[in-house]
Amino acid sequence: MKVLAINGSARKNGNTDILIRRILEKLHSAGIETEVVSFANHPVAPCKACFACGDKTNCVHQKDFFHVVFEKMKTADGIFLGSPVYSANISANMQAFLERAAVVCDMNPGLLKHKVGACVAAARRGGALNAIDAMNHFFLNHEMFIVGSSYWTMAYGQLPGDILKDEEALSTMDHLAENLIWLLKKIK
Ligand SMILES: Cc1cc2nc3c(=O)[nH]c(=O)nc-3n(C[C@H](O)[C@H](O)[C@H](O)COP(=O)(O)O)c2cc1C
Repeated sequence: MKVLAINGSARKNGNTDILIRRILEKLHSAGIETEVVSFANHPVAPCKACFACGDKTNCVHQKDFFHVVFEKMKTADGIFLGSPVYSANISANMQAFLERAAVVCDMNPGLLKHKVGACVAAARRGGALNAIDAMNHFFLNHEMFIVGSSYWTMAYGQLPGDILKDEEALSTMDHLAENLIWLLKKIK
């Protein structure tokens, strides 16, 4: 059983990374294999809308980092998306990634069917719910099961590490990890 976490932040060791690693640590302790990929040093180019991915099960236009991450997504049992909030929504890299992934999935139906999805958003002040909605809409549109927590899966902080002061969010993340473990073990 494996969960792939995708970090949409431009920062390598920022707040989104802290949230992702806190959750993955709990998954790992429960015997679930985990991997994190980050767009920090790998900006994602947008979809070219060529629709050449039909019957190819990946983007054929550019064999870039998207291509590598999407291959991992196809074999993972769970997909965990983490994004900082930029301009009251997900980061540009996460948006570009999800647009390309959505087109590949639309052209090759069922690629992510019955996988488990969950997400987190790190924000300074405003827009976290929009970011969570954007990521959950991706899961919903591709026949995946979304895992929730005891509150919206957002956390507040500006500079790297600030997020650790948001105690309510950390407890929300711990419940999210518990629920992820529960569902993954039920369906596998
Ligand atoms: C380009 C940019 C846009 C941002 N826009 C917002 C915003 O609209 N709302 C907000 O609450 N925080 C905003 N922030 C702050 C980040 O969401 C916040 O610092 C977050 O903790 C960063 O997570 P990271 O360390 O994982 O990158 C923005 C930051 C950047 C760099």
